[in-house]
Amino acid sequence: MTTVKYALDEFIYDMSRLVDEQPDQGTLFDRGSIYLERLINNASAIPQEYSVPAVGKNHGTYLLHYGDNGLLVTSVVWGPGDHIGPHDHRTWGMIGVVGNGITETRFRRMDDGERDDYAVLERDRVNLVKPGDVSLLIPDVDEIHQMDNHTDRPTVEIHVYGNDLRGLERSSYDLESGAIKHFATTRFSNC
Ligand SMILES: [Fe+2]
Repeated sequence: MTTVKYALDEFIYDMSRLVDEQPDQGTLFDRGSIYLERLINNASAIPQEYSVPAVGKNHGTYLLHYGDNGLLVTSVVWGPGDHIGPHDHRTWGMIGVVGNGITETRFRRMDDGERDDYAVLERDRVNLVKPGDVSLLIPDVDEIHQMDNHTDRPTVEIHVYGNDLRGLERSSYDLESGAIKHFATTRFSNC
């Protein structure tokens, strides 16, 4: 029996067409997560050099595709013990785990959101996201998370966003003080 594997370029083609159709958010996530689940079930679809931490680092973020319609596809590698504190994304997103697993903690913003230097966050839920699972980032509704790799192996994910994160102003949150810091991704590990 021949198993037909879903390749990265097929995923990018299907996802680009979907974004071009400008569907409502629910349809985008419904159809997009089917494509992403298909992709992450084929670990060989991710180039080997983008499935390991960057040289000399315990983390890697690699650009796989960026299109005129805003579609951004990256692979993200979390080394053992890797951690990023609570932050937001300011665009829709889908995260699919290819190998190993990641602990994702979601937070809700409890204040009125008026201040851009202070926020009150409440922990909403903690999920161990496993290979084949897709989690969704919904702007302003459910998009603040913290990531931890509590395992002793690298975790590989595919991230899909509706906008280029490079230069997009986002926020990170200090749970103790409530302070908000603004930041922007400047580059990926491969470009
Ligand atoms: Fe994130």
